[in-house]
Amino acid sequence: MDGFESASAVTDAIVADIANHLGRSKISYQDQKILITGGAGFLGSYICEVLVAQGARKVICYDNLSSGLKENLEGLRDKENFVFQVRDATEPYDPGEHVDVVMHMASRASPFEFAHFPIQIWRSNTIGTMCGLEVARKYGATFFYSSTSEVYGDPDAGHVPTPETYWGHANPNGPRSCYDESKRAGEAVVKAYELEHKVDARIARIFNTYGPRIRGGPLFGRVVPNFIEEAMLGKPISVFGDGKQTRSFTFISDEVEGLLRLANPAMIQARGEVINIGNNKEDTVEDLARLVIEMTGSKSELRYSPLPKDDPVRRCPVLEKAKRLLDWQPRTPLREGLEYTIPWFRFTLLA
Ligand SMILES: NC(=O)c1ccc[n+]([C@@H]2O[C@H](COP(=O)([O-])OP(=O)(O)OC[C@H]3O[C@@H](n4cnc5c(N)ncnc54)[C@H](O)[C@@H]3O)[C@@H](O)[C@H]2O)c1
Repeated sequence: MDGFESASAVTDAIVADIANHLGRSKISYQDQKILITGGAGFLGSYICEVLVAQGARKVICYDNLSSGLKENLEGLRDKENFVFQVRDATEPYDPGEHVDVVMHMASRASPFEFAHFPIQIWRSNTIGTMCGLEVARKYGATFFYSSTSEVYGDPDAGHVPTPETYWGHANPNGPRSCYDESKRAGEAVVKAYELEHKVDARIARIFNTYGPRIRGGPLFGRVVPNFIEEAMLGKPISVFGDGKQTRSFTFISDEVEGLLRLANPAMIQARGEVINIGNNKEDTVEDLARLVIEMTGSKSELRYSPLPKDDPVRRCPVLEKAKRLLDWQPRTPLREGLEYTIPWFRFTLLA
């Protein structure tokens, strides 16, 4: 597990793995110009790196660094085909040159951020989506939207695993609504541009993704990084509810490969489609906690606290559409993904 020499060796291995898998399937962004919002974030930074590695003509990354980090793009600093600008994706923008693809990734995504920045989140997924669609419309680009499994809310029994045809069971006026309802509104804006301007648009419903570079802590944290940090620091592991709620944890290399398959203009069968990109292996939050304790060699114990309001009980995608249209399915079991993630946290957290 600890065969890596540095944090960047871990992330480089992941980028190479994604690029290899895409290359083997002849999915390429060579010579294309891609504009990506939110490219300094967890998912976005890998997307930028893979696009550059694939020989994109130009990758233009806009990010306001609200939840992302410039350090995530450190490896691209000297690349001639990479441009980074600090910019808010909710203000209208125009790259001033033709682009082939617009990928709108910009949005805070941690449940803890929902309480502190609900308006920013709402704006990113609604106004920000519209700003990106305007650019796609103007330049005839493919538009990619990063939606979420949260559009399903807390699915009714009988709708888990959840197919894309499920309309959802979300609370429009609750603590999570700034996120899940704005993502739903974002999907509706995408549909409107498809109908009125015939924009080539694709929507990914992303399920819980983890891996090196995901942020932990009380504001940005999500369940996997928080458990790893708590275990490494010997603190109690904060499990919400009885820990029996499930999530389908998707490793970053699988997720980014799926997203880049879906966003590729040559994948014409994906045009106008909404596709779940996640893992269909369900794990309980409690099982994750125990696995993290085992793999970090921690002495931490589990500490249970009340389940947050509207927290979904089960999360698991139907992946038939991703397999059929994108020839994609996740490859990485949770234990294997943690074999990359835990060493990365050792380098960065304990440094
Ligand atoms: N990681 C997951 O498990 C997951 C699950 C479902 C959906 N998503 C979606 O994928 C996208 C990326 O998520 P992530 O996990 O990489 O989160 P992240 O917080 O690491 O990345 C989001 C990036 O967007 C930037 N950003 C936010 N608002 C912005 C704005 N108005 N203008 C410019 N930049 C802005 C942030 O600074 C950050 O770099 C988000 O849209 C998120 O909703 C992620």
